[in-house]
Amino acid sequence: MSNSPRGLVDGNKPPWRPVRWGGCFRPRRRGLIFLVAGPRFPENARVPRTIYFDYNATTPLDPAVREAMLPFLGEVWGNPSSVHHGATNARARPDDARDRAAKFLGAKPSEIIFTSGGTESNNLAVLGAARRLKPRGNHLITSAVEHHAVLHCFDCLESKEGFEVTRLAVDSDGRVSPDDLKKAIRSDTILVSVMAANNEIGTIHAVAELGSICRENGVFFHTDAVQWFGQEPFENISRFNADLVSVCAHKFHGPKGAGLLFAKSPLFPVPIFFGGGHEHERRAGTENLAGIIGMVEALEKFVNPPVFAVPDLKKLKAKLAGALLEIDGCEIVSPSESCLANTFSFVVRDADSIALLAGLDVEGVCASSGSACSAGSLEPSHVVAATGRHASANSLVRFSLGRFSSASEVDFVCGLLPDVVRRAQLG
Ligand SMILES: Cc1ncc(COP(=O)(O)O)c(C=O)c1O
Repeated sequence: MSNSPRGLVDGNKPPWRPVRWGGCFRPRRRGLIFLVAGPRFPENARVPRTIYFDYNATTPLDPAVREAMLPFLGEVWGNPSSVHHGATNARARPDDARDRAAKFLGAKPSEIIFTSGGTESNNLAVLGAARRLKPRGNHLITSAVEHHAVLHCFDCLESKEGFEVTRLAVDSDGRVSPDDLKKAIRSDTILVSVMAANNEIGTIHAVAELGSICRENGVFFHTDAVQWFGQEPFENISRFNADLVSVCAHKFHGPKGAGLLFAKSPLFPVPIFFGGGHEHERRAGTENLAGIIGMVEALEKFVNPPVFAVPDLKKLKAKLAGALLEIDGCEIVSPSESCLANTFSFVVRDADSIALLAGLDVEGVCASSGSACSAGSLEPSHVVAATGRHASANSLVRFSLGRFSSASEVDFVCGLLPDVVRRAQLG
């Protein structure tokens, strides 16, 4: 692991201005408060240092990956579907990239569908498989802790398309029990979706076991592995025992807007986009060639071995845990076992995520309250609530470390945590 977190960004300059912490929220004891402070720094001020502890939200594009993408943002600009000579350079590229991705994953090329990222892969998997399999049955199963890109698909299938959905409860570590899955499967169950690793608190689910339960029962299985790739040792896609696996490039130093769905043959999810016959009739839309190439490069470079160095990250996380346990009113919610090594999440009594994150941000620390799309919103964490901690679901803080995280950064954060927590508790 690099000792130079500045490798991420230009030395003294924070890559982001401190977030404008505007908006309103309702701390439990103080009624409605409007946070209109805006940035605490003058426009041209610089925070002392930027510590990026939000790798679960996204990772920086690797320079070598960017280099591999550049021709596809420049000279190779033709539409791969065009038949004229102007597109000769581009024509075979999606299928070359598909062959590489398939080889890397241990899949058939026909089992790879390029998408725009994790959200689309999850939508295509859940909506596409449920609609394809509907003649066989009407019952679907998922868990209470999935990303909204999965949960909202199930909500839609239930409310608009007449499916019945069982949402499995989880234990205090946020984990689905294989026995609960066995009990929930019915003769009309067609699809189960349980994530490989949780983005908010880091729980690693026993997906191989869940997948084999599904296989034994003739039920199709999807796993959202968006947060898992690049973090856990990977050899072959068969390790998940899944029919559908979602992957997203920007979680392992690839480009944003690029992902893939592994769809095990012969399952053919019903397309959710309508238009041309791209991706062998499974995903209409002119290919994002630069994104696809960048994703395949990042897969080959950063997934096996994983770019997230587990032993180093575990040590850093242990330091954070030691510091946090000293602070009154804090509780760690990331599981102590079977958890992503980079993810350290906690809740704070009598405080609010927004106040905590704002307090960290003014010190230069980038953290999150969960999935990026809901960070800064007023929604309590559905994941923390599902673990049974309803009262603290609005006080989640997630530190997610990565490739450039260092011991000195962790020491710095450990040093300022007591004050940040105290200030947030005072409201
Ligand atoms: C577990 C999980 N699934 C899906 C997504 C959605 O990915 P994207 O926003 O890149 O489409 C995320 C993003 O944070 C995620 O963490």
